[in-house]
Amino acid sequence: MIARKRTAVLISGRGSNLQALIDATSESAFPAEIALVLSNVAGAPGLARAAGAGIPVRTIPHQSYPSREAFDAAVNDVLREYRIDLVCLAGFMRILSDGFVKAWESRIVNIHPSLLPAFKGIDVHRRVLEAGVRITGCTVHFVVAELDSGPIIAQAAVPVVEGDTEDSIAARTLEAEHRLYPLALKLLAEGRVSLSPNGALFTRVPHASGTLFSPGL
Ligand code: GRF
Repeated sequence: MIARKRTAVLISGRGSNLQALIDATSESAFPAEIALVLSNVAGAPGLARAAGAGIPVRTIPHQSYPSREAFDAAVNDVLREYRIDLVCLAGFMRILSDGFVKAWESRIVNIHPSLLPAFKGIDVHRRVLEAGVRITGCTVHFVVAELDSGPIIAQAAVPVVEGDTEDSIAARTLEAEHRLYPLALKLLAEGRVSLSPNGALFTRVPHASGTLFSPGL
């Protein structure tokens, strides 16, 4: 059997996507294992989820470092210490420096609660409601220097329905996130999606394999 990819999950808070990844990778046939959970926030609830699953955890408080680059260097050192192959950002609320992103290029992915390239940044669900879109969703993408950009690996579509609030859209989207992130990590760990040297997405799967729909809710 091919070695499972040693994956680090970087979090800042709740860690529900982390939990979805823990659950998926607990299957021995899954092509990735979570070898480390790292938080920039001490006491982030996700840390307890990881510890409960017997996964090593590290906290690196960003306030302890004089610059973004110094913080990123500390994170990088820990990732190397744990011989990490792949990095999943899951609610990690820090912008990473260009140098860090370059060092992990094609091995670092993020989940965002919209159908990118629509609604980058924060306050996504409020803006989704204001825009009146009928379909929103979530995206797993390769991380590049520009925020919430980078080639898209997988997306799930989620309907916006009558009477929706920011919270109801967030909850429905989150359910889709929990299905999508394991799917995307699997594609990545199996080498079925990768970044070609010119930064374009290279896939060995039909496009629809990276897509989930939640119709008729
Ligand atoms: C998710 O909505 C994710 O898309 C966004 O931050 C949130 C993290 O939630 N990047 P959780 O910590 O995984 O529960």
